[in-house]
Amino acid sequence: MYPKMANCKTNRRVYVETYGCQMNLADSELVGGILAKEGYAFTSDLETADVALINTCAIRDNAERRIHGRLGLFNAQKRRNPDLVVGILGCMAERLREKFLDQENLVDIVVGPDEYRKLPSLIEHAAGGEKGIAVRLSRVETYDDIEPLRTEGVSAWVSVMRGCDKFCTFCVVPFTRGRERSRPFSTVVEEVRSLAEQGFKDVTLLGQNVNSYADGDHDFADLMRAVADVDRQLRIRFTTSHPQDMSDRLIEAISTTDNICKYIHLPVQSGSDRILTLMNRTYSVDGYLALVEKIRSAIPGVSLTTDTISGFPGETDEDHRLTLALMKAVKYDGAYTFKYSPRERTRAWEMGDIVADELKTARVGEILALQRDLSREINQQFVGRSERILVEGPSKKSAQEYTGRTDTNRTVVFPHVQEQPGEYITVKIARANSATLFGIRA
Ligand code: SAH
Ligand code: SF4
Ligand code: F3S
Repeated sequence: MYPKMANCKTNRRVYVETYGCQMNLADSELVGGILAKEGYAFTSDLETADVALINTCAIRDNAERRIHGRLGLFNAQKRRNPDLVVGILGCMAERLREKFLDQENLVDIVVGPDEYRKLPSLIEHAAGGEKGIAVRLSRVETYDDIEPLRTEGVSAWVSVMRGCDKFCTFCVVPFTRGRERSRPFSTVVEEVRSLAEQGFKDVTLLGQNVNSYADGDHDFADLMRAVADVDRQLRIRFTTSHPQDMSDRLIEAISTTDNICKYIHLPVQSGSDRILTLMNRTYSVDGYLALVEKIRSAIPGVSLTTDTISGFPGETDEDHRLTLALMKAVKYDGAYTFKYSPRERTRAWEMGDIVADELKTARVGEILALQRDLSREINQQFVGRSERILVEGPSKKSAQEYTGRTDTNRTVVFPHVQEQPGEYITVKIARANSATLFGIRA
């Protein structure tokens, strides 16, 4: 995934695999930056690697199970190459800590999200046969001075804050990522300037709770305006925002700045006030609906997406029905639907895992089916319209077709003639399904 490095001091080749959210993908680029500075080279082939790192996610049990499965593969490789240094990074490393060293014989180093600066020395020691662990969470680490090793392309991520102080009762993130802290305003703006100079066209500002960003007098709305001012040809996006921190100033910044995308991921989690209280989400259904109203009247045509959790402890059929009702009322442009997964140390863990798995599956299925219908209906309204899109590259299905994205974050597939990634073009939408628009060059 990384470009090959010349002049490597160590001659060691690193293989990195990444799971989880965009923040984890951005962290792998930071890890790449830290190791590149020490002269490491990179490979996309596990078999030729001297160091194999897996950047992990702990959000749900199935995420962790998948990673255990991948570790089995690393294990097989280590049997073939006993010198291979295997490292676990990220949220699951932070959650399970020394259990990895105790239980999984093959793991040499365990490094949490705030300790990546120690990686070069941990790798050195592990190569000499000494296992190592670094899992302290920090109140100040933002890796502000580290230049991420990015793959070239159209889109780049910039982490602007780390950690989360919200403590939703189901969520492990405050325990794996620690307390909230923001990077300095000026260095974020400078980083975006440098990305624009390097030819990136689409920049996403990242944080678990990105809209609670704060540096002195500057809030997230100030930051969005400032990075949008860097270059009007640059598209600016952000994720993820908590409804509580969706300020009027931020809504105004989005509505009045052309190159800030008209797209907000605004997870609701549940449509039942009773469940929202148990989740510690800090808003009510009415409050959330009023916020959606405010956003829609300030930003006409805005695209809204959400996350939902089915089967939170004690969720009744009535609570579930209320979630479906809310989804119908809001008519989201898209939704990510999850089955509740109990996480140790969280407050909801104490409440048990009361809802049967089959019921969770059935509820998720109903929400998905409803959202598919709503998305199809919404996307149909785009047929016949002209949309300005940013070209991203070949589509997954065919080399003759390219994909691009609208500023409301919709994927558009179109026949490729000579369009280049990073170019803005206008397409006319010919047809649509629930996930994709299909266009022809206007
Ligand atoms: N900070 C982001 C979310 C990060 S996790 C936010 O607040 O929006 C992404 C999504 O995973 C959450 O929105 C939630 O829907 C889901 N999630 C988190 N913990 C979960 C759990 N224990 N079980 C199931 N889904 C969970
Ligand atoms: Fe988890 Fe809630 Fe923080 Fe999001 S806001 S990361 S769901 S605790
Ligand atoms: Fe997963 Fe950690 Fe992100 S738990 S969702 S990788 S913050």
